[in-house]
Amino acid sequence: MSSFPHPDRYQQMEYRRSGRSGIKLPAISLGLWHNFGDSTRVDNSRELLRHAFDRGITHFDLANNYGPPPGSAEENFGRLLREDFRAHRDELIISTKAGYTMWQGPYGDWGSRKYLVASLDQSLKRMGLEYVDIFYHHRPDPDTPLEETMRALDHVVRQGKALYAALSNYPAGIAADAIAILRDLGTPCLIHQPRYSMFERTPEQGLIQTLGEAGVGCIAFSPLAGGVLTDRYLQGIPADSRVASDSRFLDENQLTEEKMARVRRLNTLAQQRGQKLAQMALAWVLRDERVTSVLIGASKTAQIDDAVAMLARREFSDDELAAIDAALM
Ligand SMILES: NC(=O)c1ccc[n+]([C@@H]2O[C@H](COP(=O)([O-])OP(=O)(O)OC[C@H]3O[C@@H](n4cnc5c(N)ncnc54)[C@H](OP(=O)(O)O)[C@@H]3O)[C@@H](O)[C@H]2O)c1
Repeated sequence: MSSFPHPDRYQQMEYRRSGRSGIKLPAISLGLWHNFGDSTRVDNSRELLRHAFDRGITHFDLANNYGPPPGSAEENFGRLLREDFRAHRDELIISTKAGYTMWQGPYGDWGSRKYLVASLDQSLKRMGLEYVDIFYHHRPDPDTPLEETMRALDHVVRQGKALYAALSNYPAGIAADAIAILRDLGTPCLIHQPRYSMFERTPEQGLIQTLGEAGVGCIAFSPLAGGVLTDRYLQGIPADSRVASDSRFLDENQLTEEKMARVRRLNTLAQQRGQKLAQMALAWVLRDERVTSVLIGASKTAQIDDAVAMLARREFSDDELAAIDAALM
């Protein structure tokens, strides 16, 4: 059996600075939203984590509610960390989040100080960690004062339970306000995590610019639109795909004729570039240097290999970018 971790792992990956912080993230990060809950085989989850780390992927992204059931991804990850990564904690950036429903009653959701502080304590217990590297507020809360939520992030950083504070799903305007509050508190926002892909370009309408100006990093989640921006669904719905699973977040109805026509056009462009559509989709998100990392999911180690191989074919000509825009119409 080959030794773990791979001695050349840091030569395989590119590391990009998160905004104006001291932290560099791998250009490709791995999210544990799917394929790490209790309904998946732990040996596959283990294989995915080891494979990713072997290829220089040093950042694993979680949230309190990842599973199913909620919390189980953190528990399973904690077990794998203890068993396989004990000697490597300081080589890893581990993030978690709170902001969506986690437990019953008024204190298990949204953005109060009560919820955030209690949720992070639960996450640390589940993962068996003393601290996470990044703690996110998972979504903006329209009813809690932004100051309260940002003070809670500042508080957990000062407690040493998180090294950095971060935001996810905040639209540009609220993100700018939150970033300013955190800066004034002395706990600068490390990174923002928006959904960003060829199919979801809202961050181009101000958010990425805001982050760039504020010196805050940007990590794009679902850069493959959950697998739609790949060759996965070109010949129907494979039995082992996310659409065929009972995912609440991606079902057959979302694979409309119109969307699949766009996928086919993009697939042709990727073939002309000599790469897979998944690779072109990831390179496209990384074309903007203000994007620190693409946050992918994977059900198979070969998908991680595809992503890493993308790094060798990253550049786009103006004509290629225009052709992609046209294919997306
Ligand atoms: N902050 C938030 O609100 C939020 C929300 C969603 C996600 N996230 C984060 O973002 C992470 C990634 O989200 P995501 O899983 O939706 O990302 P994604 O990268 O858009 O989709 C991943 C899925 O695409 C398929 N895939 C990946 N590589 C492939 C390849 N080379 N060829 C063919 N298919 C491929 C796999 O699906 P199959 O299962 O079909 O193989 C894989 O599970 C999550 O784990 C989480 O950490 C954050």
